[in-house]
Amino acid sequence: MTRQHITITVNGAPVSAVIEPRELLVHFLRDHAGMTGTHIGCDTSQCGACTVRMDGKTVKSCTVLAVQAQTQTHSVTTIEGLGTPKNMTPLQQAFTEMHGLQCGFCTPGMIFAAQALLDRVANPNEAQVREALHGNLCRCTGYKNIVDAVLLAASRANQTTNDASKPKENA
Ligand code: FES
Ligand code: FES
Repeated sequence: MTRQHITITVNGAPVSAVIEPRELLVHFLRDHAGMTGTHIGCDTSQCGACTVRMDGKTVKSCTVLAVQAQTQTHSVTTIEGLGTPKNMTPLQQAFTEMHGLQCGFCTPGMIFAAQALLDRVANPNEAQVREALHGNLCRCTGYKNIVDAVLLAASRANQTTNDASKPKENA
C-alpha cells in the first residue's frame, strides 16, 4: 500500500508522519504525536477510551482515519491539550474531588464526552449525564462517582454564571 506523508494539527501544533492510508487516528495520536492519554480499550468502537475532540466535536478516534483529520481543514484536541495537573479544567477538578476515576483508563474519554454535554446543556440532570456517557465504558467505578463529578462541575458553572449576572451593590 502506498504510504502517505500527512500532517495533523494536534493540540495546536502540527505533527507530521508517513503512514499507510488505513492508519486510524487513534494510532497516529499515540504513535506519532505521543499523545498516549488517548487509549485503546476495544476493537469494536464501543468503549470510548479513544475519544478526542476534532473540529469542536467529540469523536471516537478509532473510527476516524488519520488522513481524514489532516491539517488543511481539521484540528484535534487530546486530553493532553486540556488542563494540566496544576491547572485542571473545572470538570477535571470535579472528577478529582468526587473520585470519578480509579485506574484512569476511561477518564480521558469520559472527560471529553462529559464536557461535550456541559457545552450543550448548562444544567443537566442525572439521566442526561448518564445518557451522554453511555458510549463510554468504565470497568472500575460503577459510574456513580463519574456522574456525581459531572453534576458537580455543572452546578459550579451555574453558580458562577448566576453570581456574575447578579446586580452589583453600590459601595
Ligand atoms: S478504542 Fe475506540 S471505542 Fe474503544
Ligand atoms: S476508572 Fe478504570 S476504567 Fe474507568
